[in-house]
Amino acid sequence: MKKILITGGAGYIGSATAQYFLKKGFKVYIVDNYATGKNIIKDKFCYYLKTNYYSKGTFELIRKFKINTIIHLAGYIDSNESVYKPDKYLNNNFYTLKKFIMKCQSLNVKRIVFSSSAAVYGKQKRNLIVSERSKLKAISPYGRSKLLAEKFLIKLKMQVIILRYFNVAGPSFGLKFNQTHKSYKHLLKTLLDIEISKKKKHIFYINGTNYNTPDGTCVRDYIHVQDIAKINFYSSLLSLKKNLIFNCGSSNPSSVKKVVYKYLKLTKKIIRVKIGPKRAGDPPYLVSNNKKLLSKYDIKLKSIDKIVRDTFAYVHKK
Ligand SMILES: NC(=O)c1ccc[n+]([C@@H]2O[C@H](COP(=O)([O-])OP(=O)(O)OC[C@H]3O[C@@H](n4cnc5c(N)ncnc54)[C@H](O)[C@@H]3O)[C@@H](O)[C@H]2O)c1
Repeated sequence: MKKILITGGAGYIGSATAQYFLKKGFKVYIVDNYATGKNIIKDKFCYYLKTNYYSKGTFELIRKFKINTIIHLAGYIDSNESVYKPDKYLNNNFYTLKKFIMKCQSLNVKRIVFSSSAAVYGKQKRNLIVSERSKLKAISPYGRSKLLAEKFLIKLKMQVIILRYFNVAGPSFGLKFNQTHKSYKHLLKTLLDIEISKKKKHIFYINGTNYNTPDGTCVRDYIHVQDIAKINFYSSLLSLKKNLIFNCGSSNPSSVKKVVYKYLKLTKKIIRVKIGPKRAGDPPYLVSNNKKLLSKYDIKLKSIDKIVRDTFAYVHKK
């Protein structure tokens, strides 16, 4: 049976990715310290090990099961928090990764698929759609930790695929789980929390409405977590002549306001939308050029309407 190791596999993207590998007949090994993740998948071919990704346990697993490909998702992801706790982010997302990869190489791991982020692009001069060759100007310690990791990985002799995820949203396959960790403040996760809550009336704060964007709110590029799971899967199989970087986004600009109003059309909750303060570490405009991704991966990306509908359906599914 083919096998894959997923670090951070108990998290939001990791769980969807694990599900997809299982569907494709793989044995899945998950290494996760449950800092934000949960052990959710019940499948006899899915094996969880509760540990730090840089640990004796992980290395024993790699040795014992002769793992040659790793999907590396473990890390901290809150760019706002990273502004206040930069060392937490640099240590877990970069310094530990460096030590981890050195050890993996000595254990004969051949390929690493790395979850980077649109945060490496940071604040561009104008509201440009960014391609993989655009200038990298991370503005948060989170973005910088990903950028440092990329710079280290791309030079390695092992096979490396760097995936710059844009805004990942929507529920996993079979609507079983969604972004669950209480500290996360992603837009659709916040709307989901409102939908789940027992209260009928809510206030939703849009963080900043005077950005230099068409409607004044931040503009983002949403990609369905199910599409990201597929991209992770195909990245483990892609034939490689050199190490590669891909933007993983839909290439469709969606402002915060636009997404909120799409959601308001579906919900029965009473939600008053108010203006809240800007958040530290939030670039105004982050939208991908995804031509390179679409030229290499045979995938039809789901739309923002589908992501919003699926998020809503997730709560109401019996
Ligand atoms: N969600 C997004 O929109 C998004 C966008 C860009 C990039 N990413 C990247 O994708 C990856 C996964 O993100 P996610 O949204 O699933 O977040 P998540 O918090 O749900 O998943 C991260 C997982 O890593 C685990 N983890 C953290 N540090 C660890 C450590 N030292 N050892 C073992 N496990 C550890 C956590 O417990 C969690 O299960 C992250 O690297 C993140 O930076 C996510």
